[in-house]
Amino acid sequence: MKRVAVIGAAGQLGSALVTVLEARGLEPIAFTRGTLDVCDHDQASAKLREAKPDAVVNTAAYLAVDLAEDEVAQAFEVNAVAAKHLAHVTKALDVPLVHVSTDYVFGREGARSTPYTELDAPGPQGVYGTSKLAGEYFVREYAPKHFVVRSAGLYETIGSRKKGGNFIETMLRLAAAGRALKVVSDQVLTPTYTPDLAAGIADLLTTDAYGLYHLTNAGSCSWYEFAAAIFALAGVDADLSPTTTAEYGAKAPRPAYSVLDNTKAIDAGVTPLRPWRDALEAYLQRRSA
Ligand SMILES: NC(=O)c1ccc[n+]([C@@H]2O[C@H](COP(=O)([O-])OP(=O)(O)OC[C@H]3O[C@@H](n4cnc5c(N)ncnc54)[C@H](OP(=O)(O)O)[C@@H]3O)[C@@H](O)[C@H]2O)c1
Repeated sequence: MKRVAVIGAAGQLGSALVTVLEARGLEPIAFTRGTLDVCDHDQASAKLREAKPDAVVNTAAYLAVDLAEDEVAQAFEVNAVAAKHLAHVTKALDVPLVHVSTDYVFGREGARSTPYTELDAPGPQGVYGTSKLAGEYFVREYAPKHFVVRSAGLYETIGSRKKGGNFIETMLRLAAAGRALKVVSDQVLTPTYTPDLAAGIADLLTTDAYGLYHLTNAGSCSWYEFAAAIFALAGVDADLSPTTTAEYGAKAPRPAYSVLDNTKAIDAGVTPLRPWRDALEAYLQRRSA
């Protein structure tokens, strides 16, 4: 395994993957949306065939969770139909496909307090989660050498452009502007630093233990607790208070609890990802370096 095609390489996870793969002496082939649009199936096939990768990682996605409620076709084109096409292409090339998915495939079950394993039945709530689950099923059905990797609450220093910057940057920006901040305390997950997730994906690629995996930093917190940790570690005195999902009133539903059990990935040879608070500290140090 040497040449790894990274699709969505300008994104939070894609950019971290390129860095991690390079650091491991591999040859990432970075495809941004400008050089490979996953919805342009002919172009995607031609680019991948030409690149002759030993593996493909698809990090491209339609991520606008609330907007997806109205842009159903667009969400499914990127998250499901394009994933199916990439599955066919990688099968034809006989190379592994890592397809990245989300904790939002869970949620319909409501409140819960034990992490989800890969054996738990998914139950997405909105269009985004449903489109991502459809993508998972296509990849699992059509790409024999697949790693479907579900993660959660991603952040990177470059931020997610579609989301208007990541959660940490949004919190710090609003606090600096003196805004009173209300953050939901009834959505529990594991925020995950993309360089850590990228390292886990690179570990998986050293194996042939194909399948479905959960991969996040360790531990869990609510978004409110995450915001409190950001301000504590950054030394910012913010006007922060908890709120509820109902009071916040976002358009799309979100899981009340979506913590993912990483045991299967660790058993397959992935070095356990560090606790979310340590990863947050590393992120804050890096952004101020
Ligand atoms: N962000 C999260 O909190 C989170 C949580 C759980 C799972 N995930 C999953 O993790 C993966 C990576 O997410 P991320 O946070 O790294 O997202 P991101 O920063 O938005 O990166 C996604 C990249 O995909 C590109 N893209 C969008 N449509 C494309 C298309 N048609 N063809 C090619 N590229 C396209 C985007 O380009 P443009 O910016 O030009 O649109 C962007 O560079 C996704 O599968 C996502 O579902 C994310």
